[in-house]
Amino acid sequence: MAQLRLLAFAGSLRRESFNRRLIPVLAEGARAAGAEVSLIDLRDYPLPVYDGDIEAAGMPENVYRLQDLLAEHDGLLISTPEYNGSMPALVKNTLDWISRPTEPGPSGTTLFRGKVAGIVSASPGPLGGLRSLLVLRDALAKLGLVVVPQQVAVGQAGERLPETGMLADERLRAGVHGVGAAVAELAFRLKGGVDER
Ligand SMILES: Cc1cc2nc3c(=O)[nH]c(=O)nc-3n(C[C@H](O)[C@H](O)[C@H](O)COP(=O)(O)O)c2cc1C
Repeated sequence: MAQLRLLAFAGSLRRESFNRRLIPVLAEGARAAGAEVSLIDLRDYPLPVYDGDIEAAGMPENVYRLQDLLAEHDGLLISTPEYNGSMPALVKNTLDWISRPTEPGPSGTTLFRGKVAGIVSASPGPLGGLRSLLVLRDALAKLGLVVVPQQVAVGQAGERLPETGMLADERLRAGVHGVGAAVAELAFRLKGGVDER
């Protein structure tokens, strides 16, 4: 059966971002379940705040690069911060730009449809960014993605995520791996493959 590919990114540009530390844990769970994961850094795809005039003057090249990446993958893995009870502008702005028309013409929203997503969050606060997950889940569903029901919000991230890829809490680590595995398993099924593991 064809290889399953997932595209992963953290919704923060901050060098010491907790979500940048968490996203490899999510990727690890998906890889253990058989998926190939491309982990990208949104710092490598800078975009202005969405502005129809910028789009009319010529689509930023990074929009096409992100659309091409999405087209090559079967699903998304996202680790997001929470800003004022919602998802950060970076995450929404990235999704909004990708949804714009692709270079060959069709709307970018067609690239999201029927793909699977898994979401987690991290925050120094006690709720771990849980509210951002609710908003992000809605936005992804609106774009046509199937978001797996499993999700994990890692609170007290300063203590729990001391380094990239290191989630010190055993139970939370298993939960984050579970989100990645659920995405891989559902994406395998939607791709029409038989998961024989
Ligand atoms: C504008 C702004 C709003 C924030 N609002 C929240 C919030 O509503 N809930 C929360 O848990 N943390 C909030 N925080 C704190 C972030 O969780 C914290 O900065 C976190 O480290 C950001 O994620 P990162 O480490 O991946 O960059 C906010 C931070 C900023 C800059």
